[in-house]
Amino acid sequence: EASVYQNGLRYEHPPFTFHSNQWEPEAAKAMSATSAGYAIGNAGSGETARKNVEAFKRWSIVPKRLIKSEDLPDLTTHVLGHEFQFPIAAGPVGVLRIFNPDGELAVARACAENNVPYVMSTASSTNIEEAAEANGKGVRWFQLYWPKNEAEEVTISMLDRAKKAGFTALVVTLDTYILGWRPSDLDNGYNPFLRSDQIGTAIGMSDPVFRRRFKEQHGCEVEDDMSAAVSEWARTIFPGTNHGWDDIKFLQEHWDGPIILKGIQTVADAKKAVEVGVQGIVVSNHGGRQVDGGVSSLAMLPRIVDAVGNKLDVLFDSGIRCGADIAKAMALGARMCLIGRPYVYGLVLGGQAGVSHVFKALLGDLELNLHLSGILSADPKHLNRDVLVKESD
Ligand code: FNR
Repeated sequence: EASVYQNGLRYEHPPFTFHSNQWEPEAAKAMSATSAGYAIGNAGSGETARKNVEAFKRWSIVPKRLIKSEDLPDLTTHVLGHEFQFPIAAGPVGVLRIFNPDGELAVARACAENNVPYVMSTASSTNIEEAAEANGKGVRWFQLYWPKNEAEEVTISMLDRAKKAGFTALVVTLDTYILGWRPSDLDNGYNPFLRSDQIGTAIGMSDPVFRRRFKEQHGCEVEDDMSAAVSEWARTIFPGTNHGWDDIKFLQEHWDGPIILKGIQTVADAKKAVEVGVQGIVVSNHGGRQVDGGVSSLAMLPRIVDAVGNKLDVLFDSGIRCGADIAKAMALGARMCLIGRPYVYGLVLGGQAGVSHVFKALLGDLELNLHLSGILSADPKHLNRDVLVKESD
């Protein structure tokens, strides 16, 4: 089977550069000010977002020599009891149609094409059923922005739809019950969730239970007053939350499949995730878009892995920008890395082909990096803390 690296070399016309550090500046030039502010922007001063990226530089890979390795490394990983060809997934990102008219459909197709799981956001600008169709035989997980308890019938409806549409795992995001203080969006007066023209709420607008409730409350159909409907949808979920750890059992009762809690940053919360019996967590700080001055996500990863890594699957995101970053997160114990902004930039620069290019470039880079470091596979028996040294605190 041809390797990701060799496929990269065979590209006659890569849709844009292989330099992953150029994707953000190139995409910034190609986007509207509001989209760029939303995608690139962070909470507050951007301290946490910067720390996310810088944290990777504190750890270095120490290459080994004279390791017999005629084959390129096997990138296979195991998550939720399944084998995956690659240790990455497309993390949940909302309103993808603001970046390309095909939005979620382009991403869902690129994921299926590259054997990369697709995590669909509740804040998507495409409905669940159409994105699922575009993803076809791909592996897809549904990310939940969890409606408040008084709207539990809406939650149940979304979970039912996701299940029927072939989403196999539920990713519950815990760090976003209100959007963070984001100066770029504030300057631009931009909140994609409240823009009925950009429908960051397609899932809500197409939800039969939400639509029935809206009609009862407002005496008209969603289409008759889109701006009221969009506001009502936002109110169903934000601001604030009335969920505590006790409420996870509600999701377990209504979701027939594995549950992953996204946004875990403390060891104590990781232990609670084990106690409530979920199957996985994503160590994530939402790319530094929620809490400013917060710890880098990578700093917490090894501590959390030490506490719970043998009891549930630990996934990771926030700050992954190149193959070496994936190698380091995996070496520190993550079983899979969610890619966020890089694939959004790919979507901006090249639609479905652009997203594919980002996945292939990251994986090709990872594959060669492991190979040249004498690391035979992405399995923890080869890719673990022994391959890293911490250069500074
Ligand atoms: C996000 N993220 C996110 N997470 C989530 O659970 N639901 C969502 O709808 C979104 N939407 C979203 C939009 C945009 C534009 C970005 C950049 C991010 C967070 C995402 O899943 C992931 O945690 C971060 O993107 C990881 O940080 P980096 O690596 O992209 O900086």
